[in-house]
Amino acid sequence: MPLTISPIHHDFVARAEGLDLSQPLAPGDVEAIDHAMDTYGVLVFRKQPLAPEAQLAFARHFGPLDLGLRKVSRSANRLHHEELLDISNVDEQGRVADRNHRKIVGNLANQLWHSDSSFQDPAARYSMLSAAVLPDWGGETEFCDLRAAYDSLPQRLKSEIEGLQAEHYALHSRFMLGDDQYTEEQRNALPPVTWPLVRTHPGSGRKLLFIGVHASRIVDMTVAEGRMLLMDLLEHATQPQFVHRHEWQVGDLVIWDNRCTLHRGRRYDLSARRELRRTTTLDVR
Ligand code: OGA
Ligand code: MN
Repeated sequence: MPLTISPIHHDFVARAEGLDLSQPLAPGDVEAIDHAMDTYGVLVFRKQPLAPEAQLAFARHFGPLDLGLRKVSRSANRLHHEELLDISNVDEQGRVADRNHRKIVGNLANQLWHSDSSFQDPAARYSMLSAAVLPDWGGETEFCDLRAAYDSLPQRLKSEIEGLQAEHYALHSRFMLGDDQYTEEQRNALPPVTWPLVRTHPGSGRKLLFIGVHASRIVDMTVAEGRMLLMDLLEHATQPQFVHRHEWQVGDLVIWDNRCTLHRGRRYDLSARRELRRTTTLDVR
């Protein structure tokens, strides 16, 4: 069956059906997914539970895979595949992690609006999140449309920010949450990178606001002024008209383009088990 696409909003987020993602994709399927991603930025596949190997194989159709923050803290991966990121509140022994467990900070940092791995070059292109175990309430994931957010900026602000560069740093979100117990080596493992604040999305040719919590300052601006500008832009971009909330079902696979969307997890009871698995491609093609 070919891929069928049903938009959820006019040009942001679509439901995708017709493919069995546990099987190797035909080149035409990869192209069709890329094409839909270019238009909608987020695709939701339901009823596609994927074993670790199948999720990795699916992701590799779209480029080399990213390790994210695992480059800083190399704890053992519970899922036994370096490139399958364990987005869960479960500890090494398979129990719901204690609230004081360091891993929980990572969980909570995912509740801040961000673009995966925007703190490195190459950054992330697609993230693919598969839901295995879900809590009874909360734990949704929200997405915001950075292209629509850019389009709706007043012309004065568009001119003001054109040409500005933002610095993105991996540990900024951790510091914001009071987690600052990192060695010099860890702090330097992922040096900051800069990206233009206004970028053009290659697949659609549309301009967008490249922001999110990893952006820690604006180059050639005081930290204070840059952070206030970043916070203002984030507040603009995450207004309800630009945001879609995904309510998870077990077996969902959601793919988003980190180059034109931000996302965040929503609160849930940290003592309830929540297990998702992520694969992420690098933006290198
Ligand atoms: C991620 C992420 C949010 C969530 O996996 O990259 O930010 O809802 N997840 O778990
Ligand atoms: Mn993320």
